[in-house]
Amino acid sequence: MPRHPMIAPSLLSADFARLAEETARIADADWVHVDVMDAHFVPNLTLGEPVVKAIQAVSPVPLDCHLMITDPERWAPAYAELGAHNVTVHAEACTGDPRDLAKDLRAAGAKAGLALKPGTPLEDYLEVLRDFDTLLVMSVEPGFGGQSFMPEVLGKVREARRLVDTGHLDLLVEIDGGINADTIEAAAEAGVDMFVAGSAVYGAADPGAAIAGLRAQAARAIAP
Ligand code: DX5
Ligand code: ZN
Repeated sequence: MPRHPMIAPSLLSADFARLAEETARIADADWVHVDVMDAHFVPNLTLGEPVVKAIQAVSPVPLDCHLMITDPERWAPAYAELGAHNVTVHAEACTGDPRDLAKDLRAAGAKAGLALKPGTPLEDYLEVLRDFDTLLVMSVEPGFGGQSFMPEVLGKVREARRLVDTGHLDLLVEIDGGINADTIEAAAEAGVDMFVAGSAVYGAADPGAAIAGLRAQAARAIAP
């Protein structure tokens, strides 16, 4: 099956005073990535459920919520209930079995995502991932936009791609952190389906053109 690279611009690099306009500027994107940070799981604080609900009400693009928060069992289902398309929690933050949380997210109508920090091995979650729809491989330490891509995480992407292609897993492989024109080809070759890009999209004069450019570049990199 040919892969079609997809782009999820991260609102972390958008103008927070104009979130409705900022989602309208990326109407051609596949998902819009919303980084929820609680200043506990990561050393930064962004926005929470009320603001995500407001974004959901106006966004022309399905919401991809990346929850960088402690106690995801308590907080994550609300994001599924408000209508987010995909809700991703961090494996490192789960206190119980992440599969129970995946079940709750799916029951509330969302896709369930599991995120791994750069140092977290994929092998520890192979069984668990069978119950997830999305694997988010972090290619920077979570917390801030505009950091440099960590190519050492591509081994995890390659292994996840292999497991999906051989039918052992059934999920989208997503990457987050430092994706731009210099790094997207290596990520595409390794097997990424969904590319999060914050500064590379919102830092561009024309975000729509940046999305199209990144998507085409990734497609060329995997063309037979
Ligand atoms: C970082 C966030 C990312 C961030 C990516 O913790 O999870 O989604 O917005 O930003 P760039 O693409 O600028 O690295
Ligand atoms: Zn993110």
